[in-house]
Amino acid sequence: MTDKAWRFGEEELKYVKEVLDSGLGASTEGTMNERLEQAFAERFGVQHGITHNSGTSTLHACLAAADVGPGDEVISPALTVISTAFVTLHQNAVPVFADIDPETFNVDPEDVRRKITPRTKAIMPVHLYGLPCDMAPIMALAEEHNLVVIEDAAQCFLGQYYGRLAGTIGHMGSFSFENTKHMSTGDGGIVITDDERLAQKVRQFACIGFGDVTADNGQVRKKTFAFQDPNYKRHTGFGWQYRLPEVAAAVGLAQVARLDEYVEKRQRIWQMYAEAVEDCSYLIPQKVPEGYVNACWTFVARYEGEAEIGVSWHGFAERFGAFSGEGIYAAWSVAYLEPVMAEQRFYGNGCPVRCPLYEGQVEWGPGLCPVAESVQPKLMQFKCNLGDLTEAQIQADALRETVEFFGALVH
Ligand SMILES: Cc1ncc(COP(=O)(O)O)c(C=O)c1O
Repeated sequence: MTDKAWRFGEEELKYVKEVLDSGLGASTEGTMNERLEQAFAERFGVQHGITHNSGTSTLHACLAAADVGPGDEVISPALTVISTAFVTLHQNAVPVFADIDPETFNVDPEDVRRKITPRTKAIMPVHLYGLPCDMAPIMALAEEHNLVVIEDAAQCFLGQYYGRLAGTIGHMGSFSFENTKHMSTGDGGIVITDDERLAQKVRQFACIGFGDVTADNGQVRKKTFAFQDPNYKRHTGFGWQYRLPEVAAAVGLAQVARLDEYVEKRQRIWQMYAEAVEDCSYLIPQKVPEGYVNACWTFVARYEGEAEIGVSWHGFAERFGAFSGEGIYAAWSVAYLEPVMAEQRFYGNGCPVRCPLYEGQVEWGPGLCPVAESVQPKLMQFKCNLGDLTEAQIQADALRETVEFFGALVH
């Protein structure tokens, strides 16, 4: 048994075997995706779930369902995975970056407001590290400007904002089942929504535009009579092939039943790290405002040790490793400073950013989102995705010892 064996168990095997025994390996015929969608939607108290092959394709399908296209702008945070910017560009629209809050590290609704233009079509708040964004002002802005809100809850399973589950507040919510996430299918994802029209559009986009899909059913190949008719026209919409294999859905069905347990474990591990640094003035944990429930994807803190104790980020991380720490994870670069964005290495000659529609209007570079730029290099993430609390205690102790070690140096 490896140290990762806790991730999957007997239930997963049982459902995978069901798929293999049935001989139906695709969601266009099998029922495993349907079962996962229903179980997930039920847990989140929403009407529709549409499985996908990643938490990037989910975001793409949501933008397509929101009719985002050439000439549009989509606001997403400067600090997040590149996926939100890429799917926007994939729709021939332009990502507009909003700055973050220095304490929660999530998108700052005030900066979202400043970034709205007549071209804005959608907002993609991202619930970073498991903490929900401040959704009320974002939804108010959306209402005022007639915008679609797509919550990226890839890292925020069962996080809550004043009693509401993250992913159920916007018009659509997107989750990733990639292996670092609270529940996993290896790779995969799901979109949830209460809007039947959007659900149907998402599913159609994720199933190469098949006209026969509905909000809740993608089993297009069950209509054998249609496939046996040379006059059958399949594609009434545009789209991509973003379906989740049945075998992966089988794993997801077993995982969703244990989702609460997985989230609670991460929350306990988060608390262990928080206790380890409670007397440390230079490691400032992500602030969890009153009324929020943190899903604790990772324990993240802003490291101010360079200024306070004269120890670099890497110096602190090395010492953590020496005390049996598994490694400290850094935050992604601010999205617009990644080489692909800074040099606009997109379709053809930098399309859509260098197309006549947008030419000369897109300016990405240092200084655009100053809070994100100053916070990003200081962030330290500690894994909550651990097998058990004994393993977690070793990591939390390593952090406590590191803090004590440098404390001893200072005093
Ligand atoms: C915040 C966030 N959004 C989107 C994604 C994309 O998910 P996936 O890796 O499943 O495409 C991830 C995963 O890395 C993520 O952390």
